[in-house]
Amino acid sequence: MFHASGMCTFRCWTPTVSDTTALTNIGSLVTNDPSVGNGPLGQITDAVVVIDDGLITWVGPASQFDAADTVIDLEGRALLPGFVDSHAHPVFAGDRAPEFAARMAGQAYSAGGIRSTVAHTRAASDDDLRAGIDRLAGEFLRSGITTFEAKSGYGLTIDDEARALRIAREATNETTYLGAHVVPAEFADDPDGYVALVTGAMLDACAPYARWIDVFCDRGAFDADQAREILRAGMERGLLPRIHANQLQHGDGIRVAVEVDAASADHCTYASDEDLELLAGSNTVATLLPGAEFSTRSPYPDARRMIDAGVVVAIATDCNPGSSYTTSMPFCIAVAVRDMHLTPDEAVWSATAGGARALRRDDIGRIAPGARADLVSLNAPSHIHLAYRPGVDLIDRVWRSPIAPKVGP
Ligand code: NIG
Ligand code: FE
Repeated sequence: MFHASGMCTFRCWTPTVSDTTALTNIGSLVTNDPSVGNGPLGQITDAVVVIDDGLITWVGPASQFDAADTVIDLEGRALLPGFVDSHAHPVFAGDRAPEFAARMAGQAYSAGGIRSTVAHTRAASDDDLRAGIDRLAGEFLRSGITTFEAKSGYGLTIDDEARALRIAREATNETTYLGAHVVPAEFADDPDGYVALVTGAMLDACAPYARWIDVFCDRGAFDADQAREILRAGMERGLLPRIHANQLQHGDGIRVAVEVDAASADHCTYASDEDLELLAGSNTVATLLPGAEFSTRSPYPDARRMIDAGVVVAIATDCNPGSSYTTSMPFCIAVAVRDMHLTPDEAVWSATAGGARALRRDDIGRIAPGARADLVSLNAPSHIHLAYRPGVDLIDRVWRSPIAPKVGP
């Protein structure tokens, strides 16, 4: 299981007393700190990492390593920062396997499918929802993810949204209020009334459990004016904005993201040159979700064009029962390399440092003194194998710091 306190049980080491532990004989180390190693990934070969009390205290070549209380020999394996999954929807009940099968037989994906998960989620008990997120949290951890974001959005009533966030908060500090996922069936004739609820009583009930506010700005969901209104209402309550933008068609979602200084514009499957210029000149990360295009058989976003335009790119799972039922970051990395034309280096950066940027965090996504000891070792000599050996479980061990992250509100 995976808890906010940091305990974890998957081939996972958690210090119980204050001592120093050195991970030695690291084949290839990805630090994401260009000042200590080669290239943008700050790579060091034959490296050592020292951990003390859940934090990294020293990183360098073996030739400069002094001593530690405990030594763990990684026998030439690669070591990376734990993956940061900055976009997931893990609080739901039921699945939509028949919808997936129908899509693979030619049907198109639409936002409307969300309503079927809403019905199952409303009918589920708290324990069922808790068991569901715990199961997915275990899968995240086994895929090397040491931080994950969790959105609400399958309750769409005041009580169901607040309970989703309350339960999500037991598993992660990165919780996102997504009351504006779609307009629920009972408000089909009164979308303005639903926006008033999302920005009023539902926001009041959810804000205490959330760090972020999100809105699905797309065909069949909310338009740009509604998205602005919803994000601004959340920001007035101290929530930080992020947005589902341009997944199904060209639109104004990316523009809205930049306008409100969102941490991230997610999907960006359809992005104009102007959108890329806006993103490149902003603090907003483009979070790409390869699992969604894969599972909806949609065109992939042109990630090469984004990176070449100077946009900061993150990769996340988008784990949800409709468009992307995967918890595997290695799978997302492989698809991002194969089908979105990122290099293996870029994809690994995007799944670690990029995810951290998309959550506005500097304590994760890098291996440097002061950062959390969230680490993953591979049964492979380098991170390139994550894309080079698709579908193979290369995760050797995962370390997750027991220290509670300092994130507001
Ligand atoms: O990010 N696009 C909106 N939300 C999810 C899909 C949710 C669903 O289909 O259940 C996504 O892809
Ligand atoms: Fe999503």
